[in-house]
Amino acid sequence: MTAQESGTAAAGTETLRERLLASLVTARARTTLLTSCVEEPDLTAQHSPLMSPLVWDLAHIGNQEELWLLRNVGGREPMRPEIDGLYDAFEHPRSERPSLPLLPPEEARRYAAEVRGRALDLLEGADFEGTRLTEAGFAFGMIAQHEQQHDETMLITHQLRTGPTALTAPGHRPAPPYAGPAEVLVPGGPFTMGTSTEPWALDNERPAHVREVAPFWIDTVPVSNAAYQAFIADGGYDTERWWTPEGWAHLRRNSLTAPLYWHREGDQWLRRRFGVTEVVPPEEPVLHVCWYEADAYARWAGRRLPTEAEWEKAARHDPATGRSSRYPWGDAEPGPDHANLGQRHLSPAPVGSYPAGESPLGVRQLIGDVWEWTSSDLAPYPGFAAFPYREYSKVFFGPEYKVLRGGSFAVDAVACRGTFRNWDYPIRRQIFSGFRTARSETA
Ligand code: AVJ
Ligand code: FE
Repeated sequence: MTAQESGTAAAGTETLRERLLASLVTARARTTLLTSCVEEPDLTAQHSPLMSPLVWDLAHIGNQEELWLLRNVGGREPMRPEIDGLYDAFEHPRSERPSLPLLPPEEARRYAAEVRGRALDLLEGADFEGTRLTEAGFAFGMIAQHEQQHDETMLITHQLRTGPTALTAPGHRPAPPYAGPAEVLVPGGPFTMGTSTEPWALDNERPAHVREVAPFWIDTVPVSNAAYQAFIADGGYDTERWWTPEGWAHLRRNSLTAPLYWHREGDQWLRRRFGVTEVVPPEEPVLHVCWYEADAYARWAGRRLPTEAEWEKAARHDPATGRSSRYPWGDAEPGPDHANLGQRHLSPAPVGSYPAGESPLGVRQLIGDVWEWTSSDLAPYPGFAAFPYREYSKVFFGPEYKVLRGGSFAVDAVACRGTFRNWDYPIRRQIFSGFRTARSETA
């Protein structure tokens, strides 16, 4: 290596170190916000059996960081081996967690801060070569993503909480109503799905592989509250033929009549969001629908949900070059004009927002705003290998989980990209879920 080349490599290493540091710091600032904006009893309470107490997420964030950075990368001894079991997501389902002898808030904060202090010391001297865990800073990137994923989980818990909230964020800039085409044709043919080069991509996004996708039409914007209200007004929840048998049974058993957090007053739909009740804004993407509702709406509209491969092709395929990009707008990291991410706002933006983030074919808001249900079950890509632990994805593969794509307003950019995969049960709707629809091209 020449002096100049090694100088460049050293500069690259320092840039990577700074990016990792910034990602960890950003995540911790958000965790701190989400765990300091409520009173202590609200940290230990269970706001819903679907969610952990906030104080569990806090110590679990620290515990995973200790496990992967301090023990696995750094070779350190466990700091508090007696608490590991409490914060193992597979040992205790969420509904059980409030009855565990969890660290009280102050202790959980201290533990997470102590782990972080040591992790930053480790980062300072880390080299990013040698093992797959350290290559390109993977373990640090994975831990920043993990913390951000739990920050989204904690925001879901805040939304489930009743009563006023101290969380605030600026609203969206008013924008003219979207006037573009309702759908675009995505050409058929092969495209590259998944990634083998994105350094912090998680195991289920790998490896890159070629997928053949038949031509299809996809909505340019997510389904809006106005469109969804038309489905309700047309008797969507009373018409069995729009629903799968499982969806219909679920709707009847649980008396579903509208998205979660909606209720009717007179001839208006209202909804509760972060403690505030307001008229459902017609121009916003519909939020808090389960897969069954998204699927039924699509059938009512004479359409269907996109498959996961269709969604990714719409988001990444550039018909001009045949390449798959990292994001719909290209390879640049997400900026505030590209997408509504990172809890910068506490709601999705009106449909048609973020023109700078559109795909080459003109599809908008694929990244950010609302997670989008796809028709696909969570399955491994050909050549999948669990890394670094089976419990991140492998144990979830199978028909019980449906894939969601694209991230929501509550997802940080570090945990969001064109290849990122999320999943949940088809009945779930406390998550920040919406959808868009598609249809096959009939030549
Ligand atoms: C990928 C969002 C389904 O929150 O259950 C967090 C992410 N995995 N800790 C989840 C995750 C381990 C996971 N999801
Ligand atoms: Fe976790």
